Amino acid sequence: MVDNVTKSSSKILGVGSYLPSEVVDNLKLSEKVDTSDEWITSRTGIKARRIANEKEATSDLAVKAAQNALIDAGLTAQDIDLIIVATITPDMAFPSTACLIQHKLGIPKVASFDIEAACSGFLYALDVADGMLSSNRYKCVLVVGAEKLSSIMDWEDRTTCVLFGDGAGAAILSNAGSGSQLIGFKSGADGSNPNLLYQPAGGSLLPASQDSLSSRGHFLKMNGREIFKSAVRVMERASRELLEAHGFTENDVDHVIPHQANARIVESLSQRLEIPLGKFFCNLDKYGNTSAASIPIALDEARKSLILKKGQLGLFVAFGAGLTWSAVLVRF
Ligand code: COA
Repeated sequence: MVDNVTKSSSKILGVGSYLPSEVVDNLKLSEKVDTSDEWITSRTGIKARRIANEKEATSDLAVKAAQNALIDAGLTAQDIDLIIVATITPDMAFPSTACLIQHKLGIPKVASFDIEAACSGFLYALDVADGMLSSNRYKCVLVVGAEKLSSIMDWEDRTTCVLFGDGAGAAILSNAGSGSQLIGFKSGADGSNPNLLYQPAGGSLLPASQDSLSSRGHFLKMNGREIFKSAVRVMERASRELLEAHGFTENDVDHVIPHQANARIVESLSQRLEIPLGKFFCNLDKYGNTSAASIPIALDEARKSLILKKGQLGLFVAFGAGLTWSAVLVRF
């Protein structure tokens, strides 16, 4: 074990997820967008995505995921004393989606806030939650990654709209009780090139206007090739640094739960880390990229598939707009 590394004492007591019921497969999408199942599958590995209905907002998806996580943990909403929500598609600019979830869960007064680190958001939120728990001022944290990305998709831009989907995942963290032990975190960011992946309008720089609407500025924009290259590089680096800091090697890792963006990104990461692809859990074929929700949804499915055995070492790793990245080590 390397010195000067703060060890976490928090555990994941329960995990849950929720996916909207509407399945939009590539064939269905190709009826309204100039694309094909062959192109999307070969470039991304995505076969389908879920799309929330008009009445479902991000907080609605999040509440269902949170309720499932509470059942999994054997707890009730009344046990929660802090809510942290990671999202880039909040119900509204403010108040925070966390406050809306707090109300829907019926737990008044509980401290609630959002963080925004795009697709790395859930891992950033775990990092923050761990810090809050280690301060001993909170005992039980609900961490949610939830997105209604369909609400910021430009359905006329085939280079982006085929990639993303809606969904939510949640975890209950505490210092007490039994569950998967969080070991360490490595989060970082590089804000030097924000235009690689962004939603230009709707903020203080470019408030909503006739111009922002006609230039389609309220939709997600992306430079896919540059993001691809950066993603592999930053996830490899964060994973190696985190493993080394805690005295592990790549060989010690039993399972990797990566951000579910693109099967080719996962393959490249597997090659660069020299961790066999069979150790990577992927469900992006079914749901596409659900941004902050992707890792908790994948974690929930991996647990339900019974592949995660007690005592095994897990690596969660993500990248996203910002650019942001984060890696988390966990002992299941
Ligand atoms: N259907 C059909 N053709 C498409 C298409 C689609 N949905 N999207 C793009 N194309 C076309 C392009 O117009 C281009 O055509 P041209 O050669 O005639 O100009 C061609 O396909 C190749 O485009 P390119 O952008 O070079 O493809 P690519 O192999 O780089 O794959 C991505 C594009 C977006 C799939 C890939 O770059 C990627 O996944 N990047 C990372 C994105 C990501 O993960 N973002 C989320 C970060 S959290």
